[in-house]
Amino acid sequence: MYVKPVLWILLLVSVQEVFLQESEYDYGTYEDLQPLNCSTTESIKGGHVTYSQGGMEGSVLSYHCGLGRYPSPVSYRTCSADGEWSSMRLPSGREVSRATCKDVLCPAQLQLDHGDFWPRDQWLHVGATQSFFCQEGFILSGSAQRNCTLTGEWTGTTPVCENDDSSDDCKDPGIPPGAQRSPGRFYTGQKVTYWCQAGMDLLGSAERVCLENREWSGSTPRCQAPNTFDSPSVVAAVMAGSLAGKMDVLSPDAKQESDSSFGRTFRVAEGSRMNVFILLDTSGSITKEDFEKSREATIALIRKLESYEVQLKFHVVSFASVAIDIVNITDSDISSSVGDVIWNLMDIYEKITISTNLHAALKRVSEMVAFLKQNSATNHFNETQNIIVIETDGFTNTGSKPQLELARLRSLLGYHNIAPDHTQETMLDVYVFGIGDRVKRDQLNSLASKKRGEEHVFVLKDYETLGAVFNSIISDKSVTMCGVAQEHISKKQKEDVKGIFTKPWHVSSTPCVGSIVSSNWVLTAAHCFARASTDSIRQQVFIQHSEGAVVPKKVIMHPKYNTRALRHRNVSEFYDYDVALVQVNMSIPLSWKARPICLPCTVPASRAMKRVNSTCQQHREELLPDKETAAFFIHKNSLRKGTYIQTGSQRPGCVEKAKQTLKEPTNVTLEEYVPDRFLCSGGSSGYHYTISCKGDSGGSLFLEKRKRYFQVGVVSWGTTDVCNNLNPALRHYRSDKPPPDARDFHIDLFKIMPWLKRHLKDEIQFLPDIE
Ligand SMILES: *[C@@H]1O[C@H](CO)[C@@H](O)[C@H](O)[C@H]1NC(C)=O
Ligand SMILES: *[C@@H]1O[C@H](CO)[C@@H](O)[C@H](O)[C@H]1NC(C)=O
Ligand SMILES: *[C@@H]1O[C@H](CO)[C@@H](O)[C@H](O)[C@H]1NC(C)=O
Ligand SMILES: *[C@@H]1O[C@H](CO)[C@@H](O)[C@H](O)[C@H]1NC(C)=O
Ligand SMILES: *[C@@H]1O[C@H](CO)[C@@H](O)[C@H](O)[C@H]1NC(C)=O
Ligand SMILES: *[C@@H]1O[C@H](CO)[C@@H](O)[C@H](O)[C@H]1NC(C)=O
Ligand SMILES: *[C@@H]1O[C@H](CO)[C@@H](O)[C@H](O)[C@H]1NC(C)=O
Ligand SMILES: *[C@@H]1O[C@H](CO)[C@@H](O)[C@H](O)[C@H]1NC(C)=O
Repeated sequence: MYVKPVLWILLLVSVQEVFLQESEYDYGTYEDLQPLNCSTTESIKGGHVTYSQGGMEGSVLSYHCGLGRYPSPVSYRTCSADGEWSSMRLPSGREVSRATCKDVLCPAQLQLDHGDFWPRDQWLHVGATQSFFCQEGFILSGSAQRNCTLTGEWTGTTPVCENDDSSDDCKDPGIPPGAQRSPGRFYTGQKVTYWCQAGMDLLGSAERVCLENREWSGSTPRCQAPNTFDSPSVVAAVMAGSLAGKMDVLSPDAKQESDSSFGRTFRVAEGSRMNVFILLDTSGSITKEDFEKSREATIALIRKLESYEVQLKFHVVSFASVAIDIVNITDSDISSSVGDVIWNLMDIYEKITISTNLHAALKRVSEMVAFLKQNSATNHFNETQNIIVIETDGFTNTGSKPQLELARLRSLLGYHNIAPDHTQETMLDVYVFGIGDRVKRDQLNSLASKKRGEEHVFVLKDYETLGAVFNSIISDKSVTMCGVAQEHISKKQKEDVKGIFTKPWHVSSTPCVGSIVSSNWVLTAAHCFARASTDSIRQQVFIQHSEGAVVPKKVIMHPKYNTRALRHRNVSEFYDYDVALVQVNMSIPLSWKARPICLPCTVPASRAMKRVNSTCQQHREELLPDKETAAFFIHKNSLRKGTYIQTGSQRPGCVEKAKQTLKEPTNVTLEEYVPDRFLCSGGSSGYHYTISCKGDSGGSLFLEKRKRYFQVGVVSWGTTDVCNNLNPALRHYRSDKPPPDARDFHIDLFKIMPWLKRHLKDEIQFLPDIE
C-alpha cells in the first residue's frame, strides 16, 4: 500500500488551501488571491501524463498510453476552480481515483450467415487472427482471415458467404465485426437491421433496404468502441474519394458550357459550384491548444478544397452557447476568396462557455440557404452543391435538436424524402467529424448523410489527427474526366438527334465502330482491320467522332489475335483476343460530344467511382458484381441498347449457345472456342435480351455506375446477325426481339489489362496492381 497515503496527504493539503482561501475571501482581499492549482504529479500505470497551463484552473491533464493501449476510464481531465481535477467514473457510474492503461481490443465477428468462424470470442487482442469458413455450396468473398491491429481495427474486408444460385435480388450485405443482423432473405423491398454489441456505437445505416436496382440503401454500418478511433489514413482516403467524385475536374470547355442551357442537363455541371458551410465547435469543452489545432485543421481543409477546380463559397460559423458567423456567405468578396476566409479564421478566439449549441449553428446554415434560394436568379443556387462540415467534440447539450434544422434544410433544397437514405440528395452532403473520446457517436451518426458506398461520419482521436487527415487528402488536378454523358434520351432534344450526348466516346468507321479511351487512342476490335494491310488502313479508314474525323496513325492489334489459330481443327474463324488500339493522327478535341469512356483499373475510373486507392479486383467487383449485370452497347451508331452480361453460374447457359456456330466434325471444345476472355450476353436459360448486329462490332460494352460510364468489353462476334435482311429465317426478328438462342461475345477488358496498360500508360494512369 504505497499509493493511498500519498493521495491522502494531497487531499489534506488541498482541503487546507481551500479553507485558507475562503477565510481570505471573507476579509475582502480578493485581488491578492492566489488561485488554487491542480496537482501536476498525477500518474497513470503504464503511461505518462502531460498538463496544459501548469495545472491552473481550466488546464487539462492528458493521459498517454503506448500504441495498442488506451487510458481508462478517461483520457483527459480538466482543472476546476477549487483546484481539483475532474472526477473519473467507470461506465457503471462508480468513481475511481486512478487511471490505468488498458489494451485496445478488436470487436470480433459475431455472426456469419452460411459460414463459421474461429475463435468465437466477443473481443480479441491486438495481433490476434480470426478465420472464416463457408458452408458447402457457399463461396467466401472478403477476407478468409483478419488480423486485429493496434488501432482496434481489422485488416482485410468483411467476410460474406455467397451462393451463386440464390434467388435473392440483393447480395448479402455482410455483417461488420461487433454487429449482429436480423434474419431474412434479400428480396427487393426487404429490410435488414443491424445492432452492435453492448458498449459499442453503430456508425452508418442501422437499417438497409434492398432496392429495385439490387443495391442496399444507405451506407455500410460499422461498430466502434468508445476508446477506438478511425485511422487518419483511412479517413483521408474515404474523404478524398468522396470529394473527388463530387468535384471531378471539369475540362475548360465544360466550364463554359455549364452556363448554357444545355450544360445544365449534365449531372456533372452540378459539381462546378459549391457552398461550403464549416461549423466549428469553440465551446469550453475543448482546450486552448485544441482550439488552435482545430483552426489549423480547418485551414488545411479549406486549402484542400481550393485545389479542386470548382467555384467555392464559404460560410464559417463558430458555435458554443450561441452561433457566431466568422465568414458570411452572402458577403461574396470574402466568402469566395480563400485568403480572406483564412484571414477571418485567424481572427477568432475561443470562448469559455461550457455549452455547445449545434442547433444554433445549423440554424445559421438553413437561414443562409433560405436566403440564397430567395435570390437564386443571380447566384446559380439550383446548380450549386452544398457541403456542411461539422467539427465537434460531441457535446450537444443546449438548444433544440440539431436534426430539426437539417430537416428544414432538406426541405429548402427540395428533398422531402424521410427515408434513411440520402443517395438522391446530390446537392447536399453533411460530413461530421467527431473528435476525442467524449463524442456521442450515435448523435453524430444521426446528423451525417447516409449515401450508398460513401461514409460521412468519422471519429478521430484528437484535433491534431483531424489536421493530418485534411492535409493528406490527395487531390489530383490532372485527371481527365471519363465516362460523362447525358443520361436520358429525349426525343425533344433537337441538339441531340442521334444521341451524341449520350455516347460521346463512340466513333464509327467502316466496317466497325469503336470507343475513345483517350484523346489520342480509340479501342476497337482487331477483326475490323483483318483484311487491310497496315499501309492501306491509313488511307482508307476514317474514324468519325462527333466533332469531326481522324485517321489512324498506328494500329496495334493484340499479338495473340489469330482468326486461323484453330483452322487445322476445322474451326474456320476464331476471335480470341479480338481487340485493337488505334492511335489517331491528331488529338480528338474533347468536348461534351467527344470524350473518353472510363476504362476499369485506371485512376480516372477510381475517381469516377469515388474511390481513391483501389485495386483492379475491386473495380471488377464493383462493375460486375452479379451473375447478371445490366449493360449497354451502341446499336447502329445511334442508340444505347440494354442487355445483361452473364457471369458466374449464369455464364455456362449463355456460352452454350455458341455451339451452333461450331461446325462438326471438330475436336475443339466449347471452353477452347469461347475462353473466359469473352463476356457473354444475350440471355441464358429462360431469359433473352437484346443482341448486337454485325456493324456494332468493335464498339463498347459498357455500364453505368454513379451516373458515370465504364467500358467492360469490346463487342466482338455473335451467333446470329438479326440485321441481315437477306436471311429469310431471321425476318421476324430484331435486335430487341432476337431468337432465343442468339448470343453475343465481347472481349473482357479485365482479361487484357497488361496489354492495355503497355500501350496506354503514357496517356492514362493505370492502377499499380497491373503488371
Ligand atoms: C499556479 O501555477 C502558476 C503557473 O504555473 C503559478 O504562477 C502560480 O504561482 C501557481 N499558484 C499556486 C497557488 O501554486
Ligand atoms: C494476418 O497475419 C498473418 C500472420 O499472422 C499473415 O499471414 C496474414 O497475411 C495476415 N492477414 C492480413 C489480411 O493481413
Ligand atoms: C494510395 O496509393 C499510393 C500508391 O500506391 C500511396 O502512395 C498512397 O499513400 C495511398 N494513399 C492512401 C490514402 O492510402
Ligand atoms: C450576414 O448574413 C445575413 C443574412 O442572414 C445578412 O443579413 C447580413 O447582412 C450578413 N452580414 C454581413 C456582414 O455580410
Ligand atoms: C431553380 O429551381 C426552381 C424550382 O425547380 C425554379 O422555380 C427556379 O426558377 C430555378 N431557378 C433558376 C435560377 O434556374
Ligand atoms: C488527320 O486526318 C484528318 C482526316 O483525314 C485530316 O483532316 C487532318 O488534317 C489530319 N491531321 C493531321 C495532323 O495529319
Ligand atoms: C476436319 O474435317 C475433316 C473432314 O470433314 C475430318 O476428316 C477431320 O477429322 C476433321 N478434323 C478434326 C480435328 O476434327
Ligand atoms: C484435334 O485434332 C488435331 C488434328 O487432327 C490434333 O492435332 C489435335 O491434337 C487434336 N486435339 C485434341 C485436344 O484432341
